[in-house]
Amino acid sequence: MSKQKILVQLDSDNHPSVFDSVTAIDAGVDQLLSHGRVEPMEISSLAPGAIFTRGPQDLHNTAIFIGGSDVRTGEQILEQVVDCFVGPMRVSVMLDPNGCNTTAAAAVLSAAKHLDLSKTEAIVLAATGPVGQRAVRLLARQGATVRVASRKLARAEAVCNEIKEKLPEAILIPLETLSLQDTEDALAGANLLIAAGAQGIELVSAEQLQAASSLQVAIDLNATPPLGINGVGMTDNAVEKDGKIYYGAIGVGGPKMKIHKAALKQLFTSNDQILDAEEIYDLGAALSK
Ligand SMILES: NC(=O)c1ccc[n+]([C@@H]2O[C@H](COP(=O)([O-])OP(=O)(O)OC[C@H]3O[C@@H](n4cnc5c(N)ncnc54)[C@H](OP(=O)(O)O)[C@@H]3O)[C@@H](O)[C@H]2O)c1
Repeated sequence: MSKQKILVQLDSDNHPSVFDSVTAIDAGVDQLLSHGRVEPMEISSLAPGAIFTRGPQDLHNTAIFIGGSDVRTGEQILEQVVDCFVGPMRVSVMLDPNGCNTTAAAAVLSAAKHLDLSKTEAIVLAATGPVGQRAVRLLARQGATVRVASRKLARAEAVCNEIKEKLPEAILIPLETLSLQDTEDALAGANLLIAAGAQGIELVSAEQLQAASSLQVAIDLNATPPLGINGVGMTDNAVEKDGKIYYGAIGVGGPKMKIHKAALKQLFTSNDQILDAEEIYDLGAALSK
């Protein structure tokens, strides 16, 4: 008899994400074991329980999901989990703190429906958050030139340096977008805009959007009014207005959910997968074919 699908949810926040829990159950997980306040140093006592309780032939029915709002902590937890593997005694793992990988993958794949990303000049506003950083990384991996914007140049530079360590060929331009004029200058000549700002923060005004004549695709990920790009509707899904294609947070949210559930299902097909931004993007690309 086949074993139940067990997902061990490791979340660094006080309460394990309810969103991630519900999505796991909807994706067909039989048993969800949720842990909150997880710290990287505790993994050596938590992960072996998932790895050494079933034989190698059954380990594809156990998997780990790493969430929480702190991506760095999530990455450290992942490293610690991998350190616990011993030969075939391992389980598949998905990393998606704050939905950063699934959301960025859905946003970049939406853009790829309209643009040849290898020839695209992209700008990611508020690129220092979990979602923005992953969007920059995925765009750069597709060969786009990416303007990496933050209210503080040093923060934009730090994101660029970190991504370049992982992807040395990335073409990244750090920018400071503190004033309205900075944002206007930063948008000039870009074909693709992804606004990855915090909830309820307008980053681009209606006038700035109108003035950005080179823009072909604009994607806003903020679903809490005021929205991130004034003029892009929350539910816009490849909506064409004034010669530009718009996606809003709900428009991107549909494919994000599909990718999230497909990634969870994929975890249970073998015990040797590590699903981070790139793997989740590739899975999303395969889904949209
Ligand atoms: N559609 C979906 O399915 C989906 C899924 C997940 C998340 N989201 C949304 O995606 C967006 C990005 O998520 P996240 O977790 O990466 O966001 P975040 O960490 O909350 O914020 C991202 C960036 O916004 C900038 N920011 C923060 N406060 C600001 C302010 N008062 N004024 C101007 N800029 C400010 C900061 O950049 P600087 O300090 O560098 O300027 C920050 O790093 C959020 O709106 C989130 O709700 C959507």
